[in-house]
Amino acid sequence: MTDVVQPDAKGIARAAAVLRNGGLVAFPTETVYGLGAHALDPAAVRRVFDVKGRPAADPLIVHIDSLGSLAPLVEAIPDVARRLASRFWPGPLTLVLRRSNRVPDEVTAGLDTVAVRVPAHPVAAALLEAAAVPVAAPSANLFSRPSPTRAAHVLQDLDGRIDVLIDGGQTPVGVESTVLDLSGDTALILRPGAVTLEMVREVIPDARIRGSGAGADGLLRSPGLLEKHYSPRARLTLYEGHPARVIDRIRRDADEARARGQRVGIIAAVGDEIDGFEIARLGPDDDLAAVAAGLYAALRDLDAWGADIILARGFPADLGLGVAIHDRLRRAAAGRVVVVPN
Ligand code: TXA
Ligand code: MG
Repeated sequence: MTDVVQPDAKGIARAAAVLRNGGLVAFPTETVYGLGAHALDPAAVRRVFDVKGRPAADPLIVHIDSLGSLAPLVEAIPDVARRLASRFWPGPLTLVLRRSNRVPDEVTAGLDTVAVRVPAHPVAAALLEAAAVPVAAPSANLFSRPSPTRAAHVLQDLDGRIDVLIDGGQTPVGVESTVLDLSGDTALILRPGAVTLEMVREVIPDARIRGSGAGADGLLRSPGLLEKHYSPRARLTLYEGHPARVIDRIRRDADEARARGQRVGIIAAVGDEIDGFEIARLGPDDDLAAVAAGLYAALRDLDAWGADIILARGFPADLGLGVAIHDRLRRAAAGRVVVVPN
């Protein structure tokens, strides 16, 4: 049985003790819920891969309480890492650095780098302080399912398979941290998130998104990033183009699918003129923080309703948080993208 605890002093102390003893604790961060294990305990880390069904070749992020806890985990702390940390930690930015030999191969999948971040959520911060060990934590979902943004999502996927869940309510950001690789010659964003390319460039002007000469665009051309991931069970199709044209097209396709007997779920924006279907509304369009915060819950809610297919409209994708939202929707669509002419 998974012990669900409140984020009070007693719950934090219990969760911290479980972590120190090699157990698994799901906890809220500002991005999504994490599934934590003592990062220097290889057996605990192996259990994380086991319960998630995650391939051992996919490395984990190590969570620490402050920049002061970084030194033992890495070969050296480059000056840019210090500047980024002072600007963005605690917060949704993960830095990939050359690792020290204290970090087990289980955490890094045998790579010579380690990914590290200091989460900003008060519950995560209190847990890390109480545990007083680095905590390896992927998102607390089954492999290839959408990341959990509420405690109930964690239980949907992992109830009975983990020791403790700290229920800290809804996570505010809603998409996973930005992963920034500082181990090579150029700073590369491997995964876009709430710390945007524009923000990173204020510290490192020549930072880029992987696979791209310019910005968001190349990300989509990088084949390794298009594998099915963050996916609902229902087949999701993403529609891109002018919002009004996109909604017209979604309505038509939804009518046809329903006539074929399919249960149709729709992801639209607040204010889109569409009705008469099972609709999860995000946004509005000009509030991308709200879109990100609700995105994974929308996918899970439509799955829980029993959708066979999900037709999702795209959101402004070229700047800021839009890049991360677009990245997650593209992956959820696993290549099923309809570009609607204007
Ligand atoms: O917001 C987040 O980052 C959440 C919360 C819980 O902190 N965690 C999270 O973990 O999203 P996960 O395991 O779902 O995603 C970790 C990502 C993966 O894409 C992994 O490949 C990448 O970080 N990663 C981890 N270590 C790496 C390394 N040494 N080099 C390159 N990428 C790495
Ligand atoms: Mg994940």
